[in-house]
Amino acid sequence: MAMAFTGITQVIAILLLCIALAGCEAKVINVAKDPYNADDALAKARGIAKGKVDPNVKVFNVLDFGAKADGKTNAAMNFIRTFKAACNFRGSAMMVIPQGNFLIGPVIFQGPCFNPSPLIIKVAGIVKADPDISEYTGGADATEWITIQNIDGLIITGSGTFDGQGAESWKYNDCTKNDNCIRMPANIMFNKVSNAIIRGIRSIDAKGFHIFISNSQNFRIFNVHIIAPADSPNTDGIHMSKSSVVKISRSNIATGDDCVSMIQGSQNISIKKVTCGPGHGYSIGSLGHYEDELDVSGIIVKNSTLIGTDNGVRIKTYKASTPSKASGMIFQDIVMYGVRNPIIINQEYGKQSSKEPSKVAISDVHFVNIRGTTTSKVAVNLLCSESTPCQGIHMKNINLAYTGEPNNLPYSSTCTNAKVEYIGIQNPPPCT
Ligand SMILES: *[C@@H]1O[C@H](CO)[C@@H](O)[C@H](O)[C@H]1NC(C)=O
Ligand SMILES: *[C@@H]1O[C@H](CO)[C@@H](O)[C@H](O)[C@H]1NC(C)=O
Repeated sequence: MAMAFTGITQVIAILLLCIALAGCEAKVINVAKDPYNADDALAKARGIAKGKVDPNVKVFNVLDFGAKADGKTNAAMNFIRTFKAACNFRGSAMMVIPQGNFLIGPVIFQGPCFNPSPLIIKVAGIVKADPDISEYTGGADATEWITIQNIDGLIITGSGTFDGQGAESWKYNDCTKNDNCIRMPANIMFNKVSNAIIRGIRSIDAKGFHIFISNSQNFRIFNVHIIAPADSPNTDGIHMSKSSVVKISRSNIATGDDCVSMIQGSQNISIKKVTCGPGHGYSIGSLGHYEDELDVSGIIVKNSTLIGTDNGVRIKTYKASTPSKASGMIFQDIVMYGVRNPIIINQEYGKQSSKEPSKVAISDVHFVNIRGTTTSKVAVNLLCSESTPCQGIHMKNINLAYTGEPNNLPYSSTCTNAKVEYIGIQNPPPCT
């Protein structure tokens, strides 16, 4: 892509601002933090959304830092200054994005912060991304729209919207043809963030992923709405890597790519009461894409609904990978309507020319109480690796009615290199 070097001036502008304000570099500072209490933080997040704010919390409003709510004047620098002031405040602080329309280019909200309790970001307005893709590239740190980095203790709450204005840039996405394509900017990236609550906000038309969580721990994400067209490329709803204890619940994700995707190093992830569709459903992987990937373990997807998605629950790994493990996964009480590939393991993903099998070892995977309708003849499709066959695959009460062409029967499961234990109802019929 020809856009790779055009964003340099923007990056320099951000770096200069960081230097001017000091504190952008991660440095050792002693912040007396109150111990993080998730229940307190949840109560706070809910209260603030209803306008209940503790009088001890100092408010930092982007309007007071010069941001114009006209939806036209780029307010990135005003947002960064507001953030730095809140983050550097040595008491409880809340950055406020009030009602109104704001336009901002790429920004980095960089900690560590000096607040004793979680930094609050309240979003009431509509924040729009600069649609010009050339503003976003040119350096590793500038590839996302909003990057939130190096923060321990964060609450993002409110009913505001982050609009990535991605429609203009989707045409530059060539990832269907190019294994090493350049990723488009995520709406919000969390990097090295721990103890965070994200509630109520909306993310629409991201250029790339909507929410991207990496190198992070202990997140609760709920009442979040994610929206992009079915044909928008690589617009994963929530994508995560190298992160643990992420709990996602009571959310709606309608997008062009995976609803939630969990790649290497995703551990102890729980997803409950989430509705997906359109999109590509839940995805573990792609795994085995990079050298020496971290293992994936402890994934629970429960009480969720998928409507008209390409896949329901999918585990996919690249051929010719270095060894890693994906184990301990439960997909339970899931309803699917008109899903194309409801249950799918594909260990022959990508690297089509390679004859080397995947070395990602998949084990201990439970599919329990999965019901609804499918549009494909092969509703359960387990294609495992010949070098590391799938171990401990459990199927309990699978009831997926076929709604495709009636003359297209037989309706079936297929299993390759997979050890499967069946309990209860099996529709499609089990592999023989
Ligand atoms: C994940 O959960 C298991 C079981 O509760 C625990 O032993 C392990 O330490 C957790 N790992 C992480 C990274 O949180
Ligand atoms: C989850 O789904 C199961 C099966 O549909 C249902 O019995 C259970 O009540 C649900 N749990 C919650 C917390 O909604």
